[in-house]
Amino acid sequence: MTTTSASAPIFVCDNVSKHYGSLAAVDGMSLAIDRGTVLGIGGPNGAGKTTFFDVVTGVTPATGGRAWFGDTEITGFSSDRICQLGVARTFQLNATFDSLTVRENVEVSALFGREARRLPRLTRTKVLEQAASEALDFVGLADKADQPAARLPVLDRKLLMIAGAVATDPQLLFLDEPVGGLAVHEIDRVMEIVEKIRARGVTIVLIEHVMRFLLALSTKVVIMHQGKILFEGQPSRVADDERVVNAYLGAGASSRLKRYFAAREA
Ligand SMILES: Nc1ncnc2c1ncn2[C@@H]1O[C@H](COP(=O)(O)OP(=O)(O)O)[C@@H](O)[C@H]1O
Ligand SMILES: [Mg+2]
Repeated sequence: MTTTSASAPIFVCDNVSKHYGSLAAVDGMSLAIDRGTVLGIGGPNGAGKTTFFDVVTGVTPATGGRAWFGDTEITGFSSDRICQLGVARTFQLNATFDSLTVRENVEVSALFGREARRLPRLTRTKVLEQAASEALDFVGLADKADQPAARLPVLDRKLLMIAGAVATDPQLLFLDEPVGGLAVHEIDRVMEIVEKIRARGVTIVLIEHVMRFLLALSTKVVIMHQGKILFEGQPSRVADDERVVNAYLGAGASSRLKRYFAAREA
């Protein structure tokens, strides 16, 4: 029998740490993420946001703490095993295979994220092709499927990483700066896609510096500083928090955000 219920958190971590020598890049992170929500993570460069993703998605081993996906403890699991359980991620920096086509990139992701050993070879090819086609349609890259990934502009590379993650059929998706370096109209396009993923019932954890994007999408926000949680709460409260203003936002950004929320409430 399993004790999973709709109301149990989809992800829990307890005191997770990652030390590089004397540097505590992640320093005792404890979190519970509810199913169907969007958790936004902000904080200054070097706060440990990406390292936190790396540790909980099995890209690098933690030096302390434990993590669970649903009922399954995933502490120490490899990244492919975690992905096959239903946890996908994208990377802050471009992580596509330049010499492969757009479609091949997504097929590689789908293969990584599914239990290939359980599928006979022929079925596998069909399943991967179909997953790739659906994912490319979903992000709007179907017409570029046969182009080499090397030729894609920045926005399309970001969408390609998202397509790869979607093709693994995740229940929980970690997005590391999905709109970093994009223009305003491009940010809106990614925002629509993230909303569509959420509408499918996928739980999302999002790192982003673009506060308009982060605060508009998130159900809850965590601000990290020096490997720790500095703030945890509602998006509308972030700009009021003195510690966040001092460590991250600054006075200017804080007043702009307060005006943004005042206008939304009006
Ligand atoms: N592989 C590594 N080896 C040593 N230090 C690292 C490594 N990866 C990250 N760090 C350090 O850990 C800290 C957190 O980095 P990172 O997680 O990338 O922060 P963020 O994503 O919040 O900008 C930084 O001081 C960074 O230099
Ligand atoms: Mg980072």
